[in-house]
Amino acid sequence: MSINTANEIDIVKASSSKIDTVDFENLVFGNIFSDHMLTCDFRNGAWEKPVIKPYEPFLLDPSAKVFHYGQAIFEGMKAYKHEDESVWLFRPDQNWDRFNKSAERLAMPEIPSSIFIDGMKQLIDLERNWVKKGKGNTLYIRPFMIAIGSGVVAAPSTQYRFMIILSPAKSYYQGEVKVIIADHYSRAANGGIGAAKAAGNYSAQFYPTKLANEKGFQQIIWTDDATHTKLEEAGTMNVFFRINDTLYTAPTSERILDGVTRKSLIEIAKKQGIDVDVRSVLVSELVDAAKNGSLKEVFGAGTAAVVNPIVGFSYDDTYYELPKVENSFASQLKEKLTNLQYGLETDDFGWMVKV
Ligand code: COI
Repeated sequence: MSINTANEIDIVKASSSKIDTVDFENLVFGNIFSDHMLTCDFRNGAWEKPVIKPYEPFLLDPSAKVFHYGQAIFEGMKAYKHEDESVWLFRPDQNWDRFNKSAERLAMPEIPSSIFIDGMKQLIDLERNWVKKGKGNTLYIRPFMIAIGSGVVAAPSTQYRFMIILSPAKSYYQGEVKVIIADHYSRAANGGIGAAKAAGNYSAQFYPTKLANEKGFQQIIWTDDATHTKLEEAGTMNVFFRINDTLYTAPTSERILDGVTRKSLIEIAKKQGIDVDVRSVLVSELVDAAKNGSLKEVFGAGTAAVVNPIVGFSYDDTYYELPKVENSFASQLKEKLTNLQYGLETDDFGWMVKV
């Protein structure tokens, strides 16, 4: 695929900044966006020159394929500010790689790193005032691609728009997270798009999650679609289970998102000497472990959610509360991960990339 000298990016600056109107201490996740965005179109078989310009709505033809066939993918990333004012990304190559895998699965064009990563760095460089110092403060980065070609024939578009928007963020979940174990609805199936970060994977969860919310649960832990016996992931996060002193998480598959936080926590945990077993945990094992007291922790891991303890789960109309554990694996791993991200510890893994 060709690309038109994308490393030169046009920059059109906003005439004023809205940053002074933002209450950075009271942010609702994903509600406020910075002053600029990056946009780049794919037409005639090539990516055009990217443009960084003021954040604004745009027009699309009502027949654009994204509206009818959901040809849309995205990523979730964060920028962190260190004490010396430098701004950093966490493993951006992993998100770029996954974005292109998602693109391939949805018959969309791959994007070069000169647009995805270099463009992102230039955008964040311009918006560095939006990245606040201090653990818990981040600038959430949302790269996405949509099919903008018009016509309702059910075939891939020939025109696409790649964009990056930025949103100052603190935590994703406010308050405790309780989950329901899925026994009817499914998030993904073998041969489907579960491993892609496709928009449709999220909208398909809205209805069952709404039913869970009505019962007082924030999320669903999805199980395999064929038997509903194996624990998989929690929609906005991958999930980890601690039974006695072993940490379990499901292997990635066609149904499970290859989470960057997930794979980083596995590496950190191993390095900390925690016994990690990457294998499917059965629902029956989880219930037995909850009953006999060997289930110590369940937590989610994701870019937006970071490491989020789950306080209890419901299965088959029975609620199981997780014990309160001192010096939990979740808190140890979160501490180590965020220390790396905020430059409070040496990055022995070589994961941080300076903007
Ligand atoms: C992320 O963790 O960045 C995600 O993409 C999940 C999203 C639904 C907030």
